[in-house]
Amino acid sequence: MVYITRRETFNAAHRLFRPEWSDEENLRVFGKCSNPSWHGHNYILYVTVKGPVNPETGFVVNLKTLSKIIREQVIEKIDHMNLNTQVDFMKGLIISSENIAIAIWDVLEPRFRPLGIELHCVKIVETENNSVEYYGN
Ligand code: NI
Repeated sequence: MVYITRRETFNAAHRLFRPEWSDEENLRVFGKCSNPSWHGHNYILYVTVKGPVNPETGFVVNLKTLSKIIREQVIEKIDHMNLNTQVDFMKGLIISSENIAIAIWDVLEPRFRPLGIELHCVKIVETENNSVEYYGN
């Protein structure tokens, strides 16, 4: 079994907040990411898939295929968007890195399965110091 990772980047706005809480309560729990006027991050997305090496190609998966799926299904829908308001597959979520990773997993996993590609990890890097990884459960 070999693990192969594709890196993509996107820029997006978000706000961490619960609408039923006051701005003060949101600030206390979510910190600067609760800014009512939104703010952005330069996110990095790592998608890791796994599988045996195809003896004919030497590949687990063609990276062009992997990149095309990630770009079409995820990046084009979230890059330069407001993740709270403009992304169908994130509607109703608190836009934390955790929930972004889960939402992206849920979009990609069904796309990979018919191609015989097994998704292993979705990693979101929000800042130099903070990242999350989701392994599907
Ligand atoms: Ni933030």
